[in-house]
Amino acid sequence: MNPADRRTHWRDLVERRLPEAVRPDWPVRLDHCFARILLDNACGGPWRDHTRPPAHATMPLGQLEIAIALGEAVLAGRADLALLNRRSLAWRGKIAAAPVPEALRDGDLTLRRWRPEDTAPFAALNADPAVMAHFPRPRTEAESAAEAGLCDRRFVADGFGPWALEHAGRFIGFAGPMRILRPLPFPGGDRPGTTVELAWRLAREAWGHGFATRAARLALADLAGRCRIRSVVAFTAVGNDRSRAVMERLGLRPAGTFPHPAVPEGPLRVHVLYRLDCADREEAA
Ligand SMILES: CC(C)(COP(=O)(O)OP(=O)(O)OC[C@H]1O[C@@H](n2cnc3c(N)ncnc32)[C@H](O)[C@@H]1OP(=O)(O)O)[C@@H](O)C(=O)NCCC(=O)NCCS
Repeated sequence: MNPADRRTHWRDLVERRLPEAVRPDWPVRLDHCFARILLDNACGGPWRDHTRPPAHATMPLGQLEIAIALGEAVLAGRADLALLNRRSLAWRGKIAAAPVPEALRDGDLTLRRWRPEDTAPFAALNADPAVMAHFPRPRTEAESAAEAGLCDRRFVADGFGPWALEHAGRFIGFAGPMRILRPLPFPGGDRPGTTVELAWRLAREAWGHGFATRAARLALADLAGRCRIRSVVAFTAVGNDRSRAVMERLGLRPAGTFPHPAVPEGPLRVHVLYRLDCADREEAA
């Protein structure tokens, strides 16, 4: 379908199909409320911080597609509109942000919220071709700054997120859980907002010390104990042996492969999926 058709599809979804399908357990029923919830969740924050109104005309098509997919999942009963609404309202300061511990600590390793001074070292590691070898391309400074902001806003919405990692007082990367908002083609990946992914990315000089594994273990314990989320997935390009080794050290189990829709056709597209649920984790401990 061409871009104009997709924009028409979006308008029909929020202006007609969702309002007509309203269910008693949905927290909203008006078109602009559906648009707010879906666009905020597609952008990872208040959508007006990303584009000017009217969103149906100005929103970059990639983000609009995520909003459309979320709306279709809501209509199909595969996404929790109340959860998505709470995330949107928390970003807008209309309800209290989810509580987050000041930091999680394991000896010399600290997991904490993101700070403005993390942006420069984060941009440096995102520009390193060795770190980004299994991604389509390194990130620009602006993309890294935006990603750091998105990472931290996840804590506001969910009470958890990809923690900034500090070792010996220095930012070394991130590790932690994230709700998947873009539908992905594997069982559970089609339930955006509900399925939680565990991810990590460290500066090259921080590899080989066990920091990713230790940090992820701590983040998983916090997720299960404090947030009561006991199942996670992790995935990476099939050739990313180091990341797969972290998944295996944590006790995640291989669960097949899938083509990542955000990765262009080529050797990086096929991703390997791993899963962990509580019973697995107790066994692995
Ligand atoms: C994926 C990534 C985080 C893995 O980093 P890593 O340092 O290999 O993983 P860990 O932190 O678990 O460290 C494991 C290494 O530390 C060693 N180690 C030392 N102490 C350890 C400890 N207490 N626990 C575990 N491992 C320990 C291990 O023997 C292993 O050594 P090796 O490098 O010789 O195999 C890193 O390669 C990376 O950031 N890659 C780029 C981003 C990326 O691809 N992310 C995933 C995309 S989805």
